[in-house]
Amino acid sequence: MLRVTALPLAELRERSSEKWREYPADVLPLFVAETDFPLAPAITTALQRAIDVGDTGYVASRTPLAEAFAAFAQRRFGWTPDPARMRSTADVSMGIVEILRRVTQPGDRVIVTPPVYPPFYELVAEAGAEVVRVPLADTGTAWELDLDGIRAAFEDGAAAILLCNPHNPTGTVHDRDALAALAEIADEFGAAVVSDEIHGPLAQPGTAFTPFLSAGDAAQRVGYAVVSASKAFNLAGLKCALMVTADDETSAVVRGLPVEVEWRTGQFGLLAAVAAFSEESDEWLDGLLRTLDENRVLLEDLLASRLPGARYRIPDAGYLAWIDLSAFEWGDNPARRILKDARVALHYGPAFGTEGAGHVRLNFGTSPEILIEAIERIAALVAR
Ligand SMILES: Cc1ncc(COP(=O)(O)O)c(C=O)c1O
Repeated sequence: MLRVTALPLAELRERSSEKWREYPADVLPLFVAETDFPLAPAITTALQRAIDVGDTGYVASRTPLAEAFAAFAQRRFGWTPDPARMRSTADVSMGIVEILRRVTQPGDRVIVTPPVYPPFYELVAEAGAEVVRVPLADTGTAWELDLDGIRAAFEDGAAAILLCNPHNPTGTVHDRDALAALAEIADEFGAAVVSDEIHGPLAQPGTAFTPFLSAGDAAQRVGYAVVSASKAFNLAGLKCALMVTADDETSAVVRGLPVEVEWRTGQFGLLAAVAAFSEESDEWLDGLLRTLDENRVLLEDLLASRLPGARYRIPDAGYLAWIDLSAFEWGDNPARRILKDARVALHYGPAFGTEGAGHVRLNFGTSPEILIEAIERIAALVAR
């Protein structure tokens, strides 16, 4: 069984990406969604080969990416999307904006389900639309889509919903029945569902992740999925994502996007994504999921023992933890105090929506040592 282990801190500090350059070296960075693991070997080989031969031109018009993703989806999710109904672009955000531009008119409303990945608010605006908030329902033990609230927003004229599946920051894998019901509602109102599935490959075994387009006939009619290898395989800087559809009309919308949208795909991103989605990387991804499983449980233990009062639910997917620290009365944005006095950088809760007051988002895609140190530093604030 392959173990995927995070790099030591000294090596990580040699990286020059956002995670490692935003804050001074005395800060432990657990904010942005980059991970601290080495690359999957098949990716290193593919990129190394490209460097050796100077394969740094434009992406080709015919590439193996769509087939590679279709095979990955079949092996990992039991879903068989049609490669002919996919197109690549630079990143998931760009795919979302380009699709929203086509499925909304200027000033139309688009539903988001806060607390949610902060750029969603800006992506909707960038597409010329306006945000309607329908917060996730908190059942006391889990978060779920508020289907009644979503129906009411569609009744009120919303043209689309931007779904986060799995959900960032709560790590919720939405239930298949809820997704099928959402699709039926959207279909009834002629609305579009744009499903951001960037965290899909990181759904833990047994959580029954459902790609939106596999949630029934209505989902195929109304849905657009935007997928990428970038979160699971830490490839965000290489710029490659796929827009996936499952029906003639939606695929005509994606085919109708300007060719430039596809030209913006990064060549290294594409080569890396093909390697990531290949069968050769399955064992590495399984190893990563095991490490993240250990970390999500370790975090629960650490919070219970060092920060009792912190509220955290183990996420179904990904490496992001949504933690309610309101019990400590560190204000609406506890991450500020934690950065200043504990020298740990977390993502600001209120950036995810008003529901995020008193919350932080912590990235546990790191080593147990860094995780322990971060929680120790934060716990020391309570002891003060
Ligand atoms: C839900 C979600 N969507 C999109 C992104 C950004 O993806 P990209 O860099 O491909 O635009 C992230 C990054 O963390 C994310 O969590």
